[in-house]
Amino acid sequence: MTLTLYPDLPILESDRLILRKMTLEDAPDLFEYASDPEVAQYTTWYPHQSLEDSHIFLNSVLENYQTPKGFNWGIIHKDHSKLIGTCGLVDWVQSDHYAEIGYALARPYWGQGYMPESVKAVVAFSFQETDLNRIEGRCKLPNHASARVMEKVGMKFEGILRQQMFIKGSFHDMKLYAILREDWEKLSK
Ligand SMILES: CC(C)(COP(=O)(O)OP(=O)(O)OC[C@H]1O[C@@H](n2cnc3c(N)ncnc32)[C@H](O)[C@@H]1OP(=O)(O)O)[C@@H](O)C(=O)NCCC(=O)NCCS
Repeated sequence: MTLTLYPDLPILESDRLILRKMTLEDAPDLFEYASDPEVAQYTTWYPHQSLEDSHIFLNSVLENYQTPKGFNWGIIHKDHSKLIGTCGLVDWVQSDHYAEIGYALARPYWGQGYMPESVKAVVAFSFQETDLNRIEGRCKLPNHASARVMEKVGMKFEGILRQQMFIKGSFHDMKLYAILREDWEKLSK
């Protein structure tokens, strides 16, 4: 199957979470955690300063839903009926059948396995329903929590990309992880 068969982002469901399209109505929940400097410590984006920043982000997400770049899910906590994070595929290179995964979660929900649960759902969707062959993830060296998420979902550490990203004014070494379709098929048996 190809990307063009997915003009609408499908809803993904796991035990505790629903992953769905974001809307502008998610702005207050998004702002609540995206304004937290600890959440933004290792991200490419700065903490949101106002609700307007969250609207700008959501508008870019909504625009991307109209293009093949639009695979960014809002993570909804089923019991709390609240947006608690995002998880999505970025930099999808159709000719090489790979994409990169990116995510962030509200701080009160850290350490309870919510992001591994979300990433597993996105990876399963990707290998079951699209023609992706490889999903990569990168994190800064001190971001142990993100590295652990990738290890927990079966992504393999492939090395350190020296000064690969220029983020917030300086170059950063990045840890590279990836899972191949064949890795996922073995894990799913
Ligand atoms: C990275 C992140 C998504 C992890 O999500 P999560 O759902 O908390 O993941 P897990 O529950 O599997 O915990 C992963 C690791 O976080 C660390 N951790 C656990 N509780 C924590 C807490 N309260 N505070 C900080 N780190 C914590 C532990 O090292 C844990 O690994 P372990 O289970 O082997 O002990 C989340 O910390 C986050 O959103 N961080 C800010 C945004 C970000 O860095 N995004 C990734 C950019 S590459």
